Amino acid sequence: MADSDIVRVFDTTLRDGEQAARINLNTGEKVQIARQLERLRVDIIEAGFPAASPGDFDAVKQVASEVRTPVIAGLARTTESDITAAGEALRSAARSRIHVFIATSPIHMEYKLKMTPSEVLREVEIGVRLASGITGDVEFSAEDASRSDIDFLVDVYSLAVECGARTLNIPDTVGYAMPNEFGEFCGNIISKVSHPGIIWSVHCHNDLGLAVANTLAAVRAGARQVECTINGLGERAGNASMEEIVMGLRTRSDHFGADTKIDTAKFFSTSKLVSNLTGVPVQPNKAIVGVNAFAHEAGIHQHGMLCNRATYEIMTPESVGSPGTDLHLGKHSGRHAFNERVELLGYQLTSDQKAKAFEYFKVLCDKKKDVSDGDIEAFLLDRVIHATPERRYELKDYAVTVGSGGKPTASITLSHKDQELTEAAVGNGPVDAAYKAILKLLSFQPELTEFRIRATSEQADAQGEAHVILRYKEIKAQGRGASTDIIEATIRAYLEAVNRLYATAAAREVTI
Ligand code: KIV
Ligand code: ZN
Repeated sequence: MADSDIVRVFDTTLRDGEQAARINLNTGEKVQIARQLERLRVDIIEAGFPAASPGDFDAVKQVASEVRTPVIAGLARTTESDITAAGEALRSAARSRIHVFIATSPIHMEYKLKMTPSEVLREVEIGVRLASGITGDVEFSAEDASRSDIDFLVDVYSLAVECGARTLNIPDTVGYAMPNEFGEFCGNIISKVSHPGIIWSVHCHNDLGLAVANTLAAVRAGARQVECTINGLGERAGNASMEEIVMGLRTRSDHFGADTKIDTAKFFSTSKLVSNLTGVPVQPNKAIVGVNAFAHEAGIHQHGMLCNRATYEIMTPESVGSPGTDLHLGKHSGRHAFNERVELLGYQLTSDQKAKAFEYFKVLCDKKKDVSDGDIEAFLLDRVIHATPERRYELKDYAVTVGSGGKPTASITLSHKDQELTEAAVGNGPVDAAYKAILKLLSFQPELTEFRIRATSEQADAQGEAHVILRYKEIKAQGRGASTDIIEATIRAYLEAVNRLYATAAAREVTI
């Protein structure tokens, strides 16, 4: 395929995706995702917005030093402090990009920026020049481009190129555009700002469910970079989903005559990894990576499939790495098979983590006959990829009493700074009782803002996997716990979130 037909994939799961409400990843989790994106062969990873918080800065820095093949990008407004923070965070990257943005629509300029169009032009000049002095790879985005005046946009983009930008991004920030209109709009801008070597990019949000359609329309019009996220995560209704764009281009190469370098067979595991780490489930009927995406229920469809798969399948499940059925391991499975499975699920563990994971796998095999992928993912997240290196509270012991007679009660013993602390409480259910007992042991009272529990497989001996989000002051933290005992899973999840709250508070110098 000629270079002009290659569409670069710019992943913003760790920036726009993480910005989405309720998502809260720590640096270790961001690095796990970035490593998997590298294996997926994305061209550019937007690792965060370094000036937004110390946590974001650290995450960009860590990804930049550990993930070497893709370009690592950091977002920045046009201010000097944002751009220097991005440059600093990206300093150790093998290849770095500063992504400078400013809004250009009348509504954003008047009400948000409180700037005139000529002041915005001045900002573009200052910001892009400054970023170009730090790295040769600068991307410029005109936020809310799809609601901006096209002649003004042409001036803005032309100035950005003059000041050193080499990628120009046209965002549909509020998901307002319609595919035909957006394709024409992009085509018009591209023809008016012609400059050799410029890559045109689009960044579409999904407020009307058209993010992928708009992105593909822009590719038809000449865009050669697509900004997207795994599972379509992102602000509000999300960003364009990478797996849908890439499979659209690949499946209909006759229509687009363009393709990406993505290793599509890694989509399913990447989607699961991102879903597990963010705690945001994938809807079963989600295109490409939903569990039902390749399920054929209707008899007439099944008959057609038996005669020829192409009757009802335009892509094979193998092409996106969909396993069809969950593979199960058991007590006769060896270390090699186990490690292979972990890798297929998208996790890249250190040798210490591998040893720890295998040890727990053997413990689990004694408790249940078949260990499913769901079981493995759940215990990896809870017991192996420990989110918080420093664990202030550890579960030592617990007992709950439930029955049709009295009220549920729980007694909890935690270890904390070489001490053992025990408390008991009564609640509306065993989880409520356990959480009330834990709260009595803590020196602060976090608020539980989200609580979910699910089984890791369909069997009665499945593990329970709990996911909680706690909030204290302005800090939010998620926790996960897994166990064949669902009450233990919920307690572990709660304590994990407590430990993370402490770690984040310490990093932000907030007193708890
Ligand atoms: O949606 C948007 O406009 C953005 C920009 C920062 C590219 O996320
Ligand atoms: Zn966005």
